[in-house]
Amino acid sequence: MGGLSISLCSCFILLLLSTANAKVHYHDFVVQATPVKRLCKTQNAITVNGMFPGPTLEVNNGDTLVVNVVNRAQYNVTIHWHGVRQIRTGWADGPEFVTQCPIRPGGSYTYRFTIRGQEGTLWWHAHSSWLRATVYGALIIRPKQGDSYPFQKPKRETALLLGEWWNADPIAVIRQATRTGAAPNVSDAYTINGQPGDLYNCSSKDTLIVPVDSGETNLVRVVNAALNQQLFLKIANHKLTVVAADASYVKPFTTSVLMLGPGQTTDILITADQPPARYYIAARAYASAQGAPFDNTTTTAILEYKSAPCPAKGANVKPVMPRMPAFNDTATATAFTTSFRSPGRVEVPTKIDHNLFFTVGLGLNNCPPGASSSTCQGPNGTRFTASMNNVSFVLPSTLSLLQAHQQRMPGVFTTDFPASPPVRFDYTGNVSRSLWQPVPGTKLYKVRYGETVQLVLQGTSIFTAENHPIHLHGYDFYILAEGFGNFNPSRDLGKFNLIDPPLRNTASVPVGGWTVIRFLADNPGVWLMHCHLDVHIGWGLATAFLVDNGVGELETLEAPPPDLPAC
Ligand code: C2O
Repeated sequence: MGGLSISLCSCFILLLLSTANAKVHYHDFVVQATPVKRLCKTQNAITVNGMFPGPTLEVNNGDTLVVNVVNRAQYNVTIHWHGVRQIRTGWADGPEFVTQCPIRPGGSYTYRFTIRGQEGTLWWHAHSSWLRATVYGALIIRPKQGDSYPFQKPKRETALLLGEWWNADPIAVIRQATRTGAAPNVSDAYTINGQPGDLYNCSSKDTLIVPVDSGETNLVRVVNAALNQQLFLKIANHKLTVVAADASYVKPFTTSVLMLGPGQTTDILITADQPPARYYIAARAYASAQGAPFDNTTTTAILEYKSAPCPAKGANVKPVMPRMPAFNDTATATAFTTSFRSPGRVEVPTKIDHNLFFTVGLGLNNCPPGASSSTCQGPNGTRFTASMNNVSFVLPSTLSLLQAHQQRMPGVFTTDFPASPPVRFDYTGNVSRSLWQPVPGTKLYKVRYGETVQLVLQGTSIFTAENHPIHLHGYDFYILAEGFGNFNPSRDLGKFNLIDPPLRNTASVPVGGWTVIRFLADNPGVWLMHCHLDVHIGWGLATAFLVDNGVGELETLEAPPPDLPAC
């Protein structure tokens, strides 16, 4: 008896010690309309605390965040902590109508969650309509107090958030597209930390300057927060050493160019080893869909050597511009995405409980009978749509999926999302028009706690093939392989990296190709998986995994917070 109480007690002390350094960070986020001037024009943008981009959150691995979000805007809003695993705290994940009902104008909700075992760069963004166009910010996770980076200690750290700007209210842009059935207007500018940079009208004087000193090595955290566009990024004359992505370290590799899909983050080291001067940091589109319109402008910031002679800093001396890859340079994008490895050997699940194959792609719905032609302005009088395995995902509107699951409320969703496409076809070939119209539905794929999932994400060429950044909430997954054309097990199983595949939360599925991911379902809840091009989410390129509770408290979703918004 005495022995038992002693061991219980020392166990308790150990627990106290291991959490002694973890901090709790409290923040208030007030979502509000704020006048913002860009490209010569002032508009009301929805911001957090009047800031664009929003506040940067800085924490250490193991810390807890408590963020009270107050909605003083005229739109419904939710905030998603992109890439945070949210173990047992699905109620804090944020996607509207998936894990919560929206925070109504005038309402508020407090997100509480702990960062567990993730280090590097994540970010937060609105997860309601197109609000994330301006409602986003960085979430920087440093090693636990007393731990260090697994690379040379950087002299300075900078976060670069790549964004997308419209000379219009983004909500009006998506509402118009939803009405007409056509593709939404492309953006008017890309931005780095909210600034378009020197190559746009009325933007030069606010171009972001990133200072460096000769010889120092700095950590740069790059986030693609753009709504609808994969982006290439270069820094003139400088090599980039990639050290982390999506808040997991990677085996360092050196490159001259990055390619990030929306949702992805990449941490790089750069050494200031060039003649002291000014160098452009530039980003522009990687546009893989043939013939589809895209914003072909270039955003810039300036890497400025503090020791550069004054004339070289003068506004009349142009910084050195990097030579950017062609917009459709898939070879460069692929060389980059296939360079990622985990730092060492990792434990990839080998026994697979769910062997899944999901098609991902676009579609065109015929104009509904009797509908006005003004609502069918897609190609040849159709309406754009998108799907996974021929299901075009529809969000519920009366209750979130997680609440419906937890309250066992029938009628909100079904769990019959198919493990493979209902019809097999040549996914990346010339697809028959009879397969272009998916079926709308709120279908989830159900997994038991502790089961393993392998998922082949197969792009289709329906309407047009393109690269899709597929993001899974609540999990990091290993990316085992990617390739072009149709996935073919007899040929492609041999390409799987089961030794040191990278751990990510967003995978770039190659244009007209496939990606294979694996994960262990160790986080109970309802977890959205979707294309992170917002234009595709709205069209239904999504589904969700329902992961049951396991055994005991530590394998069970927490109770919903009392202030969870009602629908
Ligand atoms: Cu970064 Cu579902 O989102």
